[in-house]
Amino acid sequence: MQQRRIGDRPVSAIGLGAMPLSTKTDRPSREDAVAVVHAALDAGVTLVDTADAYARDEAEFGHNESLVAEALASYGHGARDVLVATKGGHTRQGTDWLLDGSPAYLRKACEASLRRLGVDAIGLYQFHRPDPDTRWEDSMGALRQLADDGLVQRVGISNADVAQIDVARSIVGPALVSVQNQFSPGWRFSAEEVAHCAAHGLAFLPWSPFGGVTAAGSLSATAPAFAEVAAELGVSVYQVTLAWHLAQSDVVVPIPGASRPASIQDSAAAADLRLTPEQLARLDA
Ligand SMILES: NC(=O)c1ccc[n+]([C@@H]2O[C@H](COP(=O)([O-])OP(=O)(O)OC[C@H]3O[C@@H](n4cnc5c(N)ncnc54)[C@H](OP(=O)(O)O)[C@@H]3O)[C@@H](O)[C@H]2O)c1
Repeated sequence: MQQRRIGDRPVSAIGLGAMPLSTKTDRPSREDAVAVVHAALDAGVTLVDTADAYARDEAEFGHNESLVAEALASYGHGARDVLVATKGGHTRQGTDWLLDGSPAYLRKACEASLRRLGVDAIGLYQFHRPDPDTRWEDSMGALRQLADDGLVQRVGISNADVAQIDVARSIVGPALVSVQNQFSPGWRFSAEEVAHCAAHGLAFLPWSPFGGVTAAGSLSATAPAFAEVAAELGVSVYQVTLAWHLAQSDVVVPIPGASRPASIQDSAAAADLRLTPEQLARLDA
C-alpha cells in the first residue's frame, strides 16, 4: 500500500477511523469489532484513529481506546507497526458531548488514555476540539508539556483553523505533526487548512471523509460526479472519494470509518487508485 508520513513516522496512506465501532447505533459485537481492526491490519493499514470520548455515553468513556488496544494485542507482532492516534479534550455527560481543554484536564485525560492503550507514550495525541472556555494558547501549552514530559511522542490538533494552526506551531514546536479536520465531497471548507498543512509539512487527516456514518450510505446520490467516475473505473464511490482526498496533497491521510471488515478492505484499496487530471477536474467542478 502507498505510504505517507505523519511527522517522522511512515503510515499507510489510508487509516482506519475506529469511531463507528463504538458510537454507531447498531455497532458490532466486541468480537466483530476486533475483526474489523484485524481486517484493516491485514489490508496493510498502519494508522488507527480513536479518541477517549468515542463511546455511546459517559458510562463507557474510553470504550473505543480499550477496543483498539485489545484488537492490537490479539493481532500479535504485526501490530507493532501501527500508529495509534487518539484524542483528548471532549468529555461526555450522559450522551452529550462537552469540552474541556484545560491543562489539568488534558493531562488527566492523557494519563487515562495511556493506561487504556497500555503504552508508555502515545504515538499521536490530538487535541480534539477548541474549548471556548480555555485559551487556545493554554491548551497548546498543555500539549507541549505532555510531549516534553514524554507522555506523547507526537502531537496533533483537530477542528483547527489556519490561525490556530500557527499558534499551535509556535507553542508546540516540532512535536506538532498533524491537523485533523472535516473534509469530504460535500464539506470542502478545510481546503485552506490542507494547503497550510502542505506548506508547513504537517499531515492533514480528513475526518468523516464520506460525510459521516449516517450520510455515507447515500454518497452516490449526494456526490453524483464521484459515482460516475466510480462506474467508469469499476470501483466503489468510496474508493474514488478517498483517491480524490489523496490527490489533494501528499500530506493528506484519510481515516475512513468502518464497522464492517468489507468497508475497510474496500477503502484500503483506494491507496493505490490513481485518478487522471481529467477525472479530478470533474470531481472538483
Ligand atoms: N476529529 C473529529 O472531531 C472527528 C469527528 C468525526 C469523526 N472523526 C474520525 O474520523 C473517522 C471517519 O469519520 P466517520 O466514521 O464519522 O465517517 P465516514 O468515514 O465519513 O463514514 C463512515 C461510514 O462509511 C461507511 N464506509 C466506509 N468505507 C466504506 C466502503 N468502502 N464501502 C461502503 N461503506 C463504507 C462505513 O459503513 P459500515 O459502518 O457499514 O462499515 C462507516 O459507517 C471516525 O471514525 C473518527 O476516527 C473525527
